[in-house]
Amino acid sequence: MKNQKKTHASFRGKKALVTGASRGIGKAIAEELSSYGVRVALLARSKDKLNEIVSNISQSGNQAIALQSDLRDKESILAAVIEYKKQFGSLDFLVNNAGFGVRRLWKDIPLKMELEMTAVNYLAPVILIRQFLPDMLHRDMGHIININSFAGIYTAPYQGAYAASKSALVSYATSLSYELEKTNVHLSSIYLGPTDTDFIKSAHDSDWVDKHKKNKFNTPKDVAKVVLSTLLNPKESAVVGSDLALLAARLTNLNPRLASKLIEKMHTPPQKLSM
Ligand SMILES: NC(=O)c1ccc[n+]([C@@H]2O[C@H](COP(=O)([O-])OP(=O)(O)OC[C@H]3O[C@@H](n4cnc5c(N)ncnc54)[C@H](OP(=O)(O)O)[C@@H]3O)[C@@H](O)[C@H]2O)c1
Repeated sequence: MKNQKKTHASFRGKKALVTGASRGIGKAIAEELSSYGVRVALLARSKDKLNEIVSNISQSGNQAIALQSDLRDKESILAAVIEYKKQFGSLDFLVNNAGFGVRRLWKDIPLKMELEMTAVNYLAPVILIRQFLPDMLHRDMGHIININSFAGIYTAPYQGAYAASKSALVSYATSLSYELEKTNVHLSSIYLGPTDTDFIKSAHDSDWVDKHKKNKFNTPKDVAKVVLSTLLNPKESAVVGSDLALLAARLTNLNPRLASKLIEKMHTPPQKLSM
């Protein structure tokens, strides 16, 4: 316990940028970081929600700023980066958390939505990494966290664009990790399954939500705690929940035909959308 406290103390005065921080997992990560004295920049589109969270954090005596940005748009991302650098300067922790997904029949997913999923879930983290990694390497310190999903490891039906965007980010991070190996800059992918946020309803049809209600979802705070422990003890991948879930997802690559039969059974076609 003594060690734990001492280690968390190392967060004080560090600076973090958390994307998708207006609600759900990103909000929980920003609040958890801030509770240990990290200065946080919260990025999302919903300015009012961001301002409210920033104001709550400020009232508790910690520094936070809101960065309104639409991650579908490169210029909007770059404007947020300029604002970040103007206000905070360097960055210690980049948390690429913002994302969205849908589970629908392929014919019901418009191309526009597929392109936007790729932009928010994959391209935005790539753009942000390009904006901050050079300075992290120059200072030989920093940590990039990508909030991923088991969908990034194994592909289920009815979520091609989501799974592709998440697995693209896994490949990008895995490749980049080779180059960071001999530095003090870390890159971690955090894998999670169903977590109790708006995402659950916006991504899934009501049948899926009803069927999975009885299962225990992660809470956003569960995810935030794994993010903080990964910042304290850097590793390439971390899991929210049991490590066995990640192993099971990876094992599907051993026998893809058998795996796809099992996956198909678990994933009945989507019905009515819940939202
Ligand atoms: N919840 C789950 O079951 C689950 C499972 C596995 C992985 N994940 C991953 O966890 C991450 C966080 O999800 P969540 O569950 O917290 O979802 P959420 O509650 O729906 O929150 C998503 C966040 O992303 C932001 N965002 C979405 N589109 C954006 C855009 N174009 N520009 C800027 N920000 C945008 C939203 O803010 P604005 O709307 O204000 O822009 C919001 O803050 C995602 O990467 C998701 O893939 C979630």
